[in-house]
Amino acid sequence: MHVIIGGGSGFIGSALAAALHRRGDAVTIISRRAGPDRITWNQVTVGDVPPSDAVINLAGKHILDMRRRWTAAYRDEVIASRVETTRALVDALNALPRPPGVFISIAGKCFYGTGEIGADQEYPQLTEDSEPMGQDLPAQMVAVWEREAEGIDSARIRHVQVRIGIVLGRAVSSSAERGRWRVETSGGILPILCLPFRLGLGAALGHGRQPFPWVHIDDVVGLLLHAIDTPTMAGRYNAVAPGIRSNREFTAALARQLRRPVLWTIPSWLAAAAVGTERASILLEGQNVVPMRTLASGYRFRFPELEPALRDLV
Ligand SMILES: NC(=O)c1ccc[n+]([C@@H]2O[C@H](COP(=O)([O-])OP(=O)(O)OC[C@H]3O[C@@H](n4cnc5c(N)ncnc54)[C@H](OP(=O)(O)O)[C@@H]3O)[C@@H](O)[C@H]2O)c1
Repeated sequence: MHVIIGGGSGFIGSALAAALHRRGDAVTIISRRAGPDRITWNQVTVGDVPPSDAVINLAGKHILDMRRRWTAAYRDEVIASRVETTRALVDALNALPRPPGVFISIAGKCFYGTGEIGADQEYPQLTEDSEPMGQDLPAQMVAVWEREAEGIDSARIRHVQVRIGIVLGRAVSSSAERGRWRVETSGGILPILCLPFRLGLGAALGHGRQPFPWVHIDDVVGLLLHAIDTPTMAGRYNAVAPGIRSNREFTAALARQLRRPVLWTIPSWLAAAAVGTERASILLEGQNVVPMRTLASGYRFRFPELEPALRDLV
């Protein structure tokens, strides 16, 4: 097969490209930068897209880039990087006389939004058919992004929409500061979550009851391959492990794996001050996402439960 991956140079895209190469498929990446086996978004905009069997769009400015202060300009960049790349691809693919068999668009679990859940209430289960719990900014952004992807000509091109949870990638330890402490490096959020523990500041976030919809990177890649290979799959699929846990349980499991204590709780006001109120819900709230259609499609998670996933990754 020939698979085109928008944003294929990133954390998920490079893992997917490696898996496709391992099974003998050819990969072209769409990037802002030209290079071997790459095309640029400018080429896509003028309809210069090579023939392919499957197209996936993973492009998007990182919403939780801690090096950037959350400003209106940054927020607009986060939205535009998803909406404009998706629009360019949808227009180019729709215009092809021989389009790819499948277009896979990506969205996030933030689609399901956040709601007021009391201390004595259960978080509602959210399947692919559920409406959002509420409309915070991340939910609004994902809704706009999904709507743009729905412009694909689904009569000619099978459309699969994957809503991805918080992706846990491998945390590779390397010594720093003459071996006094160790840092984990790799894409995804796990190295960021590990660092406070390494510094002896391991903490839960906010009230801690909020669900933490995690998924192992191998399962994101596995589900995307499954979606390419399964002609009956169309519509929405949640890429979230069945063994979802609360933020407090996740933090405790990570602490056990790192053999470090959980010493404190980062209060909501501090998290909001650190990352900005508009995107703080990503850290402070969570959604009880259930991969109902994903399991019904026949996909079997390699890491359905948290502890084996953390043992594999950390
Ligand atoms: N990682 C997660 O936990 C997670 C969870 C839910 C959803 N997602 C979604 O899955 C997608 C891939 O995630 P990821 O973690 O692999 O992201 P990533 O590592 O940040 O990579 C995304 C790619 O997007 C391209 N990109 C960045 N800024 C851009 C911009 N302003 N305009 C156009 N392209 C831009 C970059 O490619 P070039 O530099 O080559 O152009 C980059 O390699 C994202 O859309 C993300 O929202 C990720």
